[in-house]
Amino acid sequence: MKKPFLTLCVIVFGSLVNVNAQNLLAIPDTLSGTTFNLNLLDTNKVFFTGFTTNTFGVNTNYLGPTLFLNKGDSIHLNVHNQLMDTTTIHWHGLHVSAKNDGGPHIVIPPDSIWKPSFRVRDHASTYWYHPHMHHMTNLHAALGAAGMIIVRDTIEAALTLPRKYGVDDFPLVLQSKSFDANKQIVVHDAADSIFMVNGTIDAYLPTPAQVVRFRLLNASSERILYIGLQGNLPFYQIATDGGLLNAPVQLTRFMLSPGERAEILVDFSGMTGQNINLMSFASELPNGIYGALQPGMGPGQTIPGYTLNPLNGADYPLMSFSIVTPTANPVTSIPTTLTTNTPWPIASADDFKTLIFTPVNQGPTAIQGPFYINNTLFDMGTINYRIPLDNIEIWTLTNQSPIAHPFHIHDVQFYITEIAGAAPPPHLAGRKDVVLVRPGQTVKFITKFETFCDPMGMYMYHCHMLTHEDEGMMGQFVVECPTNVSAEEIIAGDNELILFPNPTVDKVTIKMNRDVVISSIAVYDFLGKRIIIKNNINQIETIVDLQQHPTGIYLFEININDKVLRKKISLIK
Ligand code: C2O
Ligand code: CU
Repeated sequence: MKKPFLTLCVIVFGSLVNVNAQNLLAIPDTLSGTTFNLNLLDTNKVFFTGFTTNTFGVNTNYLGPTLFLNKGDSIHLNVHNQLMDTTTIHWHGLHVSAKNDGGPHIVIPPDSIWKPSFRVRDHASTYWYHPHMHHMTNLHAALGAAGMIIVRDTIEAALTLPRKYGVDDFPLVLQSKSFDANKQIVVHDAADSIFMVNGTIDAYLPTPAQVVRFRLLNASSERILYIGLQGNLPFYQIATDGGLLNAPVQLTRFMLSPGERAEILVDFSGMTGQNINLMSFASELPNGIYGALQPGMGPGQTIPGYTLNPLNGADYPLMSFSIVTPTANPVTSIPTTLTTNTPWPIASADDFKTLIFTPVNQGPTAIQGPFYINNTLFDMGTINYRIPLDNIEIWTLTNQSPIAHPFHIHDVQFYITEIAGAAPPPHLAGRKDVVLVRPGQTVKFITKFETFCDPMGMYMYHCHMLTHEDEGMMGQFVVECPTNVSAEEIIAGDNELILFPNPTVDKVTIKMNRDVVISSIAVYDFLGKRIIIKNNINQIETIVDLQQHPTGIYLFEININDKVLRKKISLIK
């Protein structure tokens, strides 16, 4: 019944994408250390001979450098917005305080520099950064202002895994894109028929004949990929969005929706001379998913331009691996175990939330959006949830719209506890920050809102189909601080430091968030004279007594391992 259409797809498709990929895959530059300078540039790139395409880039003309972060490091970033637009940069997947998170409230006006700084607390995995300006996320991200983040930690470092960037460990930023007749990038249409990896169209990668690691990021605005290898060559997923799986999971297919990451190992041993395509087997995607033959679950539900797009419902190459001779000292085997993930027990949940996705419009145009979460669209001025610090919560996501939505939440990583009534399959049983919720499905996850609280600091949750997000399929929450601490105090020192009460009548409690210890404290009076010094504290919490000192303002200087935090306290009697 759908045969003629599929045949047409193959013909149209063949004319758009060369069967033999011919452009060498670009590998993004890297930045490492503890200070990162990111310049957001309004620039251009030649994607098609004879055409200059206007783009955004970070330090370059399309996409940005891969940032290497080490867990435990305190890092500083200077994000210089050299665009004409106000934007933001969000560290997708990283557990940082709200004011460092780069959501829609943390705007960077043109020609200014945003300087977030935070400690890397995340597990080794693949994360990314991208703009998050309300109503403009899709535009800014689609033009190219995004990049990958690779976090390393000691657990991952102890494993025998490929980790030579660009040699046996490759970043693959996967994007479908729409271009107009002048080869300018188009947002907000369903004509995303050009596929690029790391900004390279028709890419090939000389790939050594050994165990190779790929870090896949779906950075498309809307398209969901059904990843597999030509000839159904098996591969092993080793990491989800926020960390390693317990053990490699052998697969021949998995879905990767916008925002999601997956690290896979492929054993190309003995295959020198062969070419293997990385594919999206979208002909196998069930209806009701952007990328399937039919984007909505029911017949007749479509998105303007969707049925003309040759990628929909078709199997197509994302890029090709040209297998070459192995490197020196190749990794030749797949590890049997990786790490131990310990999801919070379901019985430990302090609260439950239900989020229901529905279309704003009914009928055949329902899938064109916008979409509600619990009957509301995003409002910058509304705090949808106030969550107590350290709450463990189970969120139930129910999709009552005809199209699948990849749901993403900031601040936390979660564990899926249930998909459509069943436990998650092994490759989705790790730390996640995006989960695809198909039409009619219910997905539950458990997470803990820990470390950071700030009653004014907004974290987002939203659909990661960027058109849906921009149209308001988003909400925001704050993590509230313990009640004995005032707002002003808790925000001090990037929320790593809490001094309370302020004002005080005698004692001041100084408390660090979690795992940072205070090494010493000095207190100065208003004349700058040091009145108290406490050395060798090595605790996360300590008390200073000001009882014997006169009423006034005191400056506390708190030394932690790598920096000094300063905070004023007033003493009243
Ligand atoms: Cu990748 Cu709120 O975003
Ligand atoms: Cu959506």
